[in-house]
Amino acid sequence: MNYGKSFADVYSKHLIHFSVQIAPRIYKYISTKSNKKEVLDLCCGTGQLAYYFLTKDFQVTGIDISNDMLYHAKELSKQFIEKGKAEFYNDDARYFSLNKKFPNIVSTYDALNHLEDEQSLIQCFQQVYEHLEDDGIFIFDLNTKLGLSKGGTFIREEETLFSVAQSMFEPLRNKAFTRYYGFVKNDDSPDYYKYDEVIYNTIFKMEDVREYLYNAGFGSVEFAHLNNLFKIVEEPESEERVFIIATK
Ligand SMILES: C[S@@+](CC[C@H](N)C(=O)[O-])C[C@H]1O[C@@H](n2cnc3c(N)ncnc32)[C@H](O)[C@@H]1O
Repeated sequence: MNYGKSFADVYSKHLIHFSVQIAPRIYKYISTKSNKKEVLDLCCGTGQLAYYFLTKDFQVTGIDISNDMLYHAKELSKQFIEKGKAEFYNDDARYFSLNKKFPNIVSTYDALNHLEDEQSLIQCFQQVYEHLEDDGIFIFDLNTKLGLSKGGTFIREEETLFSVAQSMFEPLRNKAFTRYYGFVKNDDSPDYYKYDEVIYNTIFKMEDVREYLYNAGFGSVEFAHLNNLFKIVEEPESEERVFIIATK
């Protein structure tokens, strides 16, 4: 699913809270498990997590299917790209091929719920496995069925933004849809522009996710708490969102 320009512009300013909060937690986890300072950020979006790792002296590669999202990621990390510390590629999480392996691969903010079906998730896991070093760590988060079943409308009204997020759970289609729309102020004029984007999340069963990872070759798979990656979650379906940590 490809995020368009207007939504990417809004995302880069107003929807970055998750990756900004989560980046230090992932960094802490990775740093305790390994001393290799390199990470592949799959579905990197506007690059806030990538930027955090760059400030921690990591070598970072980002991949995203949306050039409009990548534009912001590249702007944010311009100085690191110039120094050869960061690279960003327009590619698909199901088919990417970089001809190298990474000690750490991450994918955040339910990016993998954006894959359209089980087969796509399986393909993505196979690519991740191929790109991971032996003993490498793959960390990603997913919205669970419980999290996605919470429909509703959320309105934000700020000086530079009026936004509506309307979520609809459609279990028969195995999806939850969110329509994000509203008006946002231009940076360099008093005008506001409209954005309107529908994003879906596919509902994956957590036990299936575990099985797909094992089938792809991963040696261990654990579900972890959103606020603390060291805390194992025994019943992931009873959480709204979980982290999954898979090691090769
Ligand atoms: C909710 S955003 C998350 C962005 C970023 N990881 C973050 O934490 O803010 C989901 C991202 O996944 C990307 N995406 C969706 N499907 C993709 C695919 N098949 N391959 C690569 N990127 C994809 C979208 O373009 C978008 O940037």
